[in-house]
Amino acid sequence: MSRTIAVLGGTGPEGFGLASRWAIAGETVVVGSRDPKRAQEAAGKIKQRAGANAKVTGMENSAACAAADLLVLTIPFEGHVALLKQLKPEFRAGAIVVDATVPLAASVGGRASRTLGVWQGSAAQQAAELVPSGVAVVAAFQNVGAEILNAEGPVDCDVIVCSDDAEASKTVRALAAKIPGVRALDGGKLENARILEQITALLIGLNIRHKGHSGIRITGLPPAAYSGH
Ligand SMILES: NC(=O)c1ccc[n+]([C@@H]2O[C@H](COP(=O)([O-])OP(=O)(O)OC[C@H]3O[C@@H](n4cnc5c(N)ncnc54)[C@H](OP(=O)(O)O)[C@@H]3O)[C@@H](O)[C@H]2O)c1
Repeated sequence: MSRTIAVLGGTGPEGFGLASRWAIAGETVVVGSRDPKRAQEAAGKIKQRAGANAKVTGMENSAACAAADLLVLTIPFEGHVALLKQLKPEFRAGAIVVDATVPLAASVGGRASRTLGVWQGSAAQQAAELVPSGVAVVAAFQNVGAEILNAEGPVDCDVIVCSDDAEASKTVRALAAKIPGVRALDGGKLENARILEQITALLIGLNIRHKGHSGIRITGLPPAAYSGH
């Protein structure tokens, strides 16, 4: 399938890691940034990692949104509302927004091992309120750390995908499964995003306490649950 994936905030470690992994997998990727020059620089670095044939470009966030079928939000929570409002006129019909944003208390000067209360329940649910109708929101990738994505080799993490749109969830599970080592699971409705976002704060606390790069694996489900379908 020919499609374009825009990773907004792809100049930061999380978005850069995801964009690199998908570029390596042969996807067409646009790195989004507030500054087109920074986006192009990041795209150039991804090409170095993914190979000269990698289909990666860099654009300002609104242009990246207008060029994409699937958008991944990897920006700090403090910029979440403003960016989604900025993007609203730019979405393609039928676009999918994948939200990896975590409302960490660090956004307001607090600890990275704590989350903020979000009125809608989670950052992803906040996104669902801000996108135009016909744009599906999917929560995923909150529990895969940038250090792991940016390291070489397989990613020892499962990705739990939550959405109220079954088709969009399936599309994102297939995309997640393109990252070697990742198993993508259907985590149910978008309201479960609040749990995914809380787990990130726990993982950050574990990383600080034990000096590592933790991730999650789900055990005990039938093989079909891990197949990404
Ligand atoms: N880091 C991780 O391991 C990890 C793991 C799971 C989830 N996450 C979540 O993923 C998101 C990104 O994480 P990160 O560590 O990559 O964050 P980051 O480095 O702080 O930010 C990523 C990018 O977002 C852009 N940005 C910064 N402030 C912004 C604002 N106010 N409005 C719009 N864009 C802004 C910046 O790009 P430009 O300046 O180029 O626009 C920056 O490079 C966060 O919500 C985080 O909680 C991170």
